[in-house]
Amino acid sequence: MSDEMVWRRKDLLGIADLSAQEILMLLDTAESFVEVAERPIKKVPTLRGRTVINLFFENSTRTRSSFELAEKRLSADSLNFSGSSSALSKGESLIDTARNLEAMSPDLVVIRHQHPGVPHLLSKRLESGIINAGDGAHEHPTQALLDAFTIRRHKGRIEGLKVTIIGDIEHSRVVRSNIHLLTKLGAEVTVAGPRTMMPEAIDKMGVAVAYDLATALHDADVVMMLRVQLERHQKTLFPSTKEYFDLFGLTPRRLQMAKDDAIVMHPGPMNRGVEISSAVADGQRSVILDQVANGVAVRMAVLYLLMSSRSGGTEVRP
Ligand code: CP
Repeated sequence: MSDEMVWRRKDLLGIADLSAQEILMLLDTAESFVEVAERPIKKVPTLRGRTVINLFFENSTRTRSSFELAEKRLSADSLNFSGSSSALSKGESLIDTARNLEAMSPDLVVIRHQHPGVPHLLSKRLESGIINAGDGAHEHPTQALLDAFTIRRHKGRIEGLKVTIIGDIEHSRVVRSNIHLLTKLGAEVTVAGPRTMMPEAIDKMGVAVAYDLATALHDADVVMMLRVQLERHQKTLFPSTKEYFDLFGLTPRRLQMAKDDAIVMHPGPMNRGVEISSAVADGQRSVILDQVANGVAVRMAVLYLLMSSRSGGTEVRP
C-alpha cells in the first residue's frame, strides 16, 4: 500500500487543516464501519484496551451520544466528563482539569467547548490525541464529515453539486467546517440568510452569497438548513421568529425552487416553525435522521484513524 494511504495526524482540530485526500480517507474509512450498526452484535474489537475521554463543556445530544456509541462499538473504554458537574465550579482551570484527566492515561480526548480554539490549546498542552467536537462558532469537523458522507451516499459524489446552506451563517461552526470541506471536494456552495447574520467577507471563503431564498434555492442539489443560534447573539438580530420563518423558513412550496431530487439536511437541534417546517423536516426529501445515523460510522472512522497514527500509522482498509 502506498505511503499516501497512511493517516499521520495526532489530532482532528478542524477541516481547514485537512487535504482533500485526507477527507476522502476519512469518508472511505467510515464506509467500512457502516455495516457494524447492521449486525446483531454491534461491536468490533478494534480499539480494545484503548481509552477515550469525552470532555463536554457545552450541551449536546447528537455529537456526544454518537461519540459514545462509536467508542463502545469499537470496544474502547470511555469516560464521560461534564464541565457543569466538575471541580471547575470550585475554580480549577481548564488546563489543570485537562492535565489531571490526562494523568489517567487516555489515548484520545474528545472536546466540545463554547470558546473557539480550546481544542487547539489542548493539542499543544496534552500528549493525547484531540478531537474537536465543536469549538464556539469556529469549527465542528465531525459534523461536516458526516454531512459529506450523507451527501455522497445519497448523491454518489460531492464534486459539481450545488449545495445551499441557509440560516445564521455568522454564528455557525457547522457552516464554516462545511464550507472548507465542500469547496475542497469541488462542490459549488451558496450561503444565504439575513444580512444581520452574514459575516463580512464570507465570499472570500469561495462561496456565493444570497439574501433571498429564490436565488439561493435555484438549482440546488442539497439544501442544508441551520438553526438560529440565539445563545451566541449579543443583540437582537431579527424582529420575530414569525418574520424569520416568513423570509427564510423552508416550506414545501419553497423547496420546489430547488432541483426535483434535492435532499434536505439539518445538523440539529432543529427549531420547527423557525428555520424549517415540520412538513419538510419529516418529508420524503429529508435526510436529517440519516445524518445522525451516519455520524456514528464517521466518528468510528475518526477514532480509528487517530488511534492508528498513535501506533505509528496503520494501513487503511480498502
Ligand atoms: N449537530 C450537533 O452538534 O448537535 P448536538 O449539539 O446535539 O451535538
